[in-house]
Amino acid sequence: MSAILELEDVARAFPVRDALGRAKGAVRAVDGVSLSVPEGAVLAIVGESGCGKSTLGRVMLRLIEADRGAIRFMGDDLRALKPDALRRRRRDMQLIFQDPFASLDPRMTVEEAVAEPLRLHGIVPRAQERERVAELMARVGLRPEQARRWPHEFSGGQRQRIAIARALASQPRLIVGDEPVSALDVSVQAQVINLLQDLIREFRLTFVLISHDLGVVRHIADRVAVMYLGRIVEEGPTAQVFHAPRHPYTRALLAAVPGQGVKAVPLEGDVPSPIDPPSGCRFRTRCPFAEAICTEQAPPLEGGSHAAACHLQHRLPPAVPPAEHDAGGERLRRLQAFFTDRKTNNTGATT
Ligand SMILES: Nc1ncnc2c1ncn2[C@@H]1O[C@H](COP(=O)(O)OP(=O)(O)OP(=O)(O)O)[C@@H](O)[C@H]1O
Ligand SMILES: [Mg+2]
Repeated sequence: MSAILELEDVARAFPVRDALGRAKGAVRAVDGVSLSVPEGAVLAIVGESGCGKSTLGRVMLRLIEADRGAIRFMGDDLRALKPDALRRRRRDMQLIFQDPFASLDPRMTVEEAVAEPLRLHGIVPRAQERERVAELMARVGLRPEQARRWPHEFSGGQRQRIAIARALASQPRLIVGDEPVSALDVSVQAQVINLLQDLIREFRLTFVLISHDLGVVRHIADRVAVMYLGRIVEEGPTAQVFHAPRHPYTRALLAAVPGQGVKAVPLEGDVPSPIDPPSGCRFRTRCPFAEAICTEQAPPLEGGSHAAACHLQHRLPPAVPPAEHDAGGERLRRLQAFFTDRKTNNTGATT
């Protein structure tokens, strides 16, 4: 599968100032990320809070600028595009935010909000706008007559559906969803995830899913990239990353998921500061396997289609094969039940 988006050694830091406004260093939010997103795939980005997921998601859409590195999107050198060309390219790439309250303008009716990208990118003639908005509303599970209402008249889940309709309006090729369901009730989460999954298939979208919910990731992602302190430490096909994690950090993340069955790797200490990250491997200060080389050299991300950035990846004790079921968490159980029901319905094999 060819890549629709490719990042090479991309970095972005934010200056940190003291109380008097003097520069006192920089937060290296994204620090040397290379990543390839295959066309039509769902790629998840996972990792602890503050590891740089949102920054990476925005940098890859050039919603914030990278400090260095190359970003190729649909054949363009994204960082080199002039404002006009970038504006035209924007129709192909959209972002869905976590918070459907913040992402919709309270002064715009739903119809205006969904029509805005249609108009901006000249998707349909004005006379057809209303009809297209109605189609988009229906496609995300809302009634077309609800289009005249205001965002505050909708529930969180409905609002996220509106945000999805708005993202779809410009007929994008790539959507980045930054925690698109984590602000919603669990029952609503599954519905919205399902909707996204259907839309991804129907429109052959490429989707980058930023999520801390490994249950959701496991259900819908084709590939997973694991971030730690601004870097990707593991990347590969979802089943392989979940069943045979290569990086000690990935194992620690998975061990925290009930029912995953990966042997716990005790994580020691706090996440170090991204202002002054550890030398060599950034995970070494919390890694139970760290050796001298881990302090001296930053491990490259290697291993081809399932890659890890760990000097010791070929010498680690095996991560116990995961037990498939008996999820301890209520949340995960409900999600799993939901998806199982759905599979049964789809094949028509009712009992
Ligand atoms: N505009 C900004 N100015 C200064 N620092 C920033 C800015 N945006 C992000 N950061 C810092 O960069 C680091 C990465 O932040 P980012 O929001 O990308 O993490 P994240 O993985 O999305 O976290 P979360 O899971 O909590 O959403 C954090 O240390 C954060 O404080
Ligand atoms: Mg974030």
